Amino acid sequence: MLSALKKYLMIPKLVRLSAGAPRDHHAAWDLFWSNVKATGAAGDVLWDAGTDHEMLGYVDMLRLHLDTNLPVVDIGCGNGSFTRRLAGHFPHAVGVDVSAHAVRRARAESAGLPNVSYAVRDMTATGSGTGLVEELHVLGADSGANVFIRGVLHVLRERDRFALAENVRAITGTRGRVFLAETDFQGNAVDYVSHLGATLRSIPAPLEGAIRGLPMPGHFGPKERSLAFPADRWELIEDGPTMIETVPLSSPTRADLIPGYFAVLKARG
Ligand SMILES: C[S@@+](CC[C@H](N)C(=O)[O-])C[C@H]1O[C@@H](n2cnc3c(N)ncnc32)[C@H](O)[C@@H]1O
Repeated sequence: MLSALKKYLMIPKLVRLSAGAPRDHHAAWDLFWSNVKATGAAGDVLWDAGTDHEMLGYVDMLRLHLDTNLPVVDIGCGNGSFTRRLAGHFPHAVGVDVSAHAVRRARAESAGLPNVSYAVRDMTATGSGTGLVEELHVLGADSGANVFIRGVLHVLRERDRFALAENVRAITGTRGRVFLAETDFQGNAVDYVSHLGATLRSIPAPLEGAIRGLPMPGHFGPKERSLAFPADRWELIEDGPTMIETVPLSSPTRADLIPGYFAVLKARG
């Protein structure tokens, strides 16, 4: 019992580490991405496992429910690790992110791929969906595009999740579908960081970087999905548990796993 409670002695350290993060979430994300030295399995980005294993687990679902003749928009694309993988399954993949530094890095990591492009966008801002639609017409997506979202909604406030979903509606049009995969860890912040290898003595560097610089994440499961994508505006096609893979933390080479939630949705009317 006592040893189970010992992890709570980490709280002062966690509070101290997170105290320096910018209050403005968009500024925090851009500062985070400006400080990233390396991505992939040996890198410092917590959610970039550097393998295609997680993506391969989504492929059957994407093929089953999404029209693979339409382009796909990867919302909150970060360094584009999933955007590049999506480009292997759709005619074009567009990654959008609120951070200019993330987009710069994504472009550099995607150099030479002909069917990948990126744009800096706050996808919670009114009208950002329609703006993208105009660009997608240039790509020939007159009846909409698919939307892929991984690891973004759980870091947004509830009102921003709804705003983002409304922009997604503008992108999907009549034929596009949404695939989302988010962390849905059940437990408090101390449980979460302990799950990812933090102890009283040490915190894995990619986790410490996230704690230091980023907004405190929440979790996103069926309840949060029904608030952001309400049933009168969205039809739920399929949902269920999944695993979100992180950079290796507890072993030198194997990705760590965070319990997650996926959903496939279609806009109504
Ligand atoms: C946890 S990372 C996930 C990155 C990427 N989807 C992946 O799985 O590798 C969350 C990303 O969402 C981006 N983001 C946060 N708020 C956003 C917003 N309002 N509009 C667009 N992107 C946003 C951040 O800059 C960050 O790159």
